[in-house]
Amino acid sequence: MKLRTLKDLAVNGKRVLMRVDFNVPLSDGKVSDDSRIRATLPTIKHLLENGATLILMSHLGRPKGAEDKYRLEPAAKRLAELLGKEVRYQKAQGPATSKTAIFVEQAPAGSITVIENLRFDSRETKNDLGLARELAAYADVYVNDAFGAAHRAHASTEGVAHLLPSAAGLLLEREVTVLSKLLQNPEKPFKVILGGAKVSDKIGVIENLLGKVDEILIGGAMAYTFFKAQGGEVGKSLVEEDKLELAHDLLERAQATNTLIRLPIDSVCAQQIAAGVETRVYPSDAIPENWLGLDAGPEAVVSYQATLKNAKTILWNGPLGVFEQPPFDRGTKAIAETVAALDGFTVVGGGDSVAAVNAAEVADKIDHISTGGGASLEFLEGKTLPGIAALLD
Ligand code: 3PG
Repeated sequence: MKLRTLKDLAVNGKRVLMRVDFNVPLSDGKVSDDSRIRATLPTIKHLLENGATLILMSHLGRPKGAEDKYRLEPAAKRLAELLGKEVRYQKAQGPATSKTAIFVEQAPAGSITVIENLRFDSRETKNDLGLARELAAYADVYVNDAFGAAHRAHASTEGVAHLLPSAAGLLLEREVTVLSKLLQNPEKPFKVILGGAKVSDKIGVIENLLGKVDEILIGGAMAYTFFKAQGGEVGKSLVEEDKLELAHDLLERAQATNTLIRLPIDSVCAQQIAAGVETRVYPSDAIPENWLGLDAGPEAVVSYQATLKNAKTILWNGPLGVFEQPPFDRGTKAIAETVAALDGFTVVGGGDSVAAVNAAEVADKIDHISTGGGASLEFLEGKTLPGIAALLD
């Protein structure tokens, strides 16, 4: 099966309905992280250079109806700044109102229009055919560049793809190429750093990677579920009691499939999560009763740095500690810097790891930063993403 790409789509003189993922963080009515908008620029520029008129659509947040704070206006403004070009936008109660239809109808050739937040219309998340038809009526062809929303079978990601000649944009194409290579023919050694609070969020990924990767380096609170599953003392650290058996089983399956699961030898611990509290370093399987592990310890970081050195392919998803609360951000920061300095092919996904890479100002040293949170995890779990499946021949 082949992904239809821009090479398969004639766009000259056509109106192109383009799904983007402008689900970006806002602060004081402004876009506070524009990475996702920047990531769509190559496709937008390519389409404009090839004679298209663009109608862009996205969701933002999870609004209940037309809530002002979820309007796409700040994203449209930021896009105009980045392009140095006018971006048409008009406030509306939804993406498919009669007012929007007229506004889209009036779009001059070669212009860019951003229609209102798709989720203002409750039919979007129901993958309603009626909404898909109304969106399709805006244009001649459809391009999906919203990798971050590809795991959602919604009217704008799945439904509409069947109603117009359609193809993946350059961003979606690159995400699929890079992540597929990781799963199908990565250069070895292939080492994966998986962090985050819960094993339950990463079970699917771990299961799918067993046997495909050489090492999985565990970080974040999920490590304590693995330690406790082996009889370790983890104090007050976060543990998913109902996943102990599963964690034990994953460790056994890892051995049987020749994937080494490494756990952080030591942890930076405190008695509560707050700024300025006393911290101590304990072995991760011998944390005293009133203490909880909140970050990878210094030995753990050094051992992870050492083993990552010879990796030819590296994937990182999830923080190594309570990254949002200094000083428990140190392990994650150190790994961000380490990954950036590696010679192997590096891929980073997941909101917190991407934020860490940006905070460390090393984003340009990572080979691929995935714009998908849930989408990249589901892809790595081996699932078929509906937004991608709809673009396959
Ligand atoms: C994301 O931020 O992961 C995507 O934009 C999808 O958003 P959603 O989880 O609200 O569907």
